[in-house]
Amino acid sequence: MANIHNNKATSDADHKTSAPNPNSILATQVVAQPKDVNAAGDIFGGWVVSQMDLAGAVLAETTANGRVATVAIDQMEFIAPVAVGALVSCYTELAQVGNTSMKIRIEVFAAKRLNHAERVAQGLFTFVALDKNGKPRSVYQQS
Ligand SMILES: CC(C)(COP(=O)(O)OP(=O)(O)OC[C@H]1O[C@@H](n2cnc3c(N)ncnc32)[C@H](O)[C@@H]1OP(=O)(O)O)[C@@H](O)C(=O)NCCC(=O)NCCS
Repeated sequence: MANIHNNKATSDADHKTSAPNPNSILATQVVAQPKDVNAAGDIFGGWVVSQMDLAGAVLAETTANGRVATVAIDQMEFIAPVAVGALVSCYTELAQVGNTSMKIRIEVFAAKRLNHAERVAQGLFTFVALDKNGKPRSVYQQS
């Protein structure tokens, strides 16, 4: 995956800077396609949320070593529109682990050019670790 950031440190105060949090990892990258545009010609917010959900699930499934489900979107912020053809990168960070749940911070960047990525969205999603019957299980219990 292309890392288009220099990963310089950021703080809560400058959370809208162009670099992801230094504790975040690059989870997914995809190019935004024309089929995902809204009437204004920009990418649908729902498509952005689905990319975040996919990216968060990667970290949640790795952490729980098994199946997970999204139970809540605790915070969601759309910061800038995403253009067709932009490389959309989702960065994830494990913010908190409960008994069966994990809160995952997700930052989204879009780049039309390889050397310039802009923060376009961010959110906090809660995932729950599931057993084979689809019921909540302890995050660190074997699935
Ligand atoms: C995920 C699911 C199995 C959880 O079942 P549940 O009966 O709500 O489970 P619990 O009440 O025991 O809660 C499980 C954990 O989620 C947390 N949780 C539940 N609802 C929450 C909410 N609205 N916001 C944040 N956390 C929540 C609980 O605090 C608990 O965390 P903890 O164990 O770390 O303390 C159930 O809600 C479900 O199947 N939801 C649909 C999931 C889905 O289809 N997602 C979209 C596709 S992946």
